[in-house]
Amino acid sequence: VPDAHAVAECAADRIADAIRSSAARGRPAVLGVATGSSPLGTYAALAARVRAGELDVSGVAAFALDEYVGLDPHHPESYHSVIRRTVTEPLGLDPERVHVPDGAAADLEVACADYERMIEEAGGVDLQLLGIGANGHIGFNEPTSSFASRTRVKTLAPQTRADNARFFDAPDRVPVHCVTQGLGTILDARRLLLVAQGEGKADAVARMVEGPLASVCPASALQLHRRADVVIDRAAASQLR
Ligand code: F6R
Repeated sequence: VPDAHAVAECAADRIADAIRSSAARGRPAVLGVATGSSPLGTYAALAARVRAGELDVSGVAAFALDEYVGLDPHHPESYHSVIRRTVTEPLGLDPERVHVPDGAAADLEVACADYERMIEEAGGVDLQLLGIGANGHIGFNEPTSSFASRTRVKTLAPQTRADNARFFDAPDRVPVHCVTQGLGTILDARRLLLVAQGEGKADAVARMVEGPLASVCPASALQLHRRADVVIDRAAASQLR
């Protein structure tokens, strides 16, 4: 699509469809939600539709992809806070139904297993929204992550910490570890929807779509999914053949 605005509207159309078709089947949708800048326009477009009375999100549940380890959930840049600010509040979702991995748990391994179980008990994710890192990561599954991986603790790649330093007072304040859904967890969602804008994502997008299926580009795992939509602007598409 031509630009970031069209990415947001096109992605919002697909998410609204998923919400309506789940509601029509009598089971509110379970969405997978991403943080980062890529999906912000999509969330704003969805919030506008809710405010206009065009979209009913009652009963909709959401599971976030990831969270930093060692950041207080009340820290403004924790993904608990970011998801509340950008998704839960603007869309008017029931906070009780919005889940974010617990990066502050005393036992992170138990917290990761609990998160997997919660997704399963909710009936699985109907539609997972994704962004892509410049290094090809999805969630915080950095290059060389296993395609079979489940929710677990990962070390952030130096590039990811540098990319996210803009949200923190100083680069060394960016946490080193995170909890992230695994590539296997993400692939279990019934639909995937990846959004990307700008030239900075063009190389990662080309490797995801046209490159070999390879763990050095974790997003290439989307090639394995039966129903993965990639919605990108012209700049992000500029390195596709
Ligand atoms: C966020 C996430 C990451 C981001 C990616 C792109 O929950 O899982 O994979 O989607 O780092 O970030 P932005 O959109 O800020 O370029």
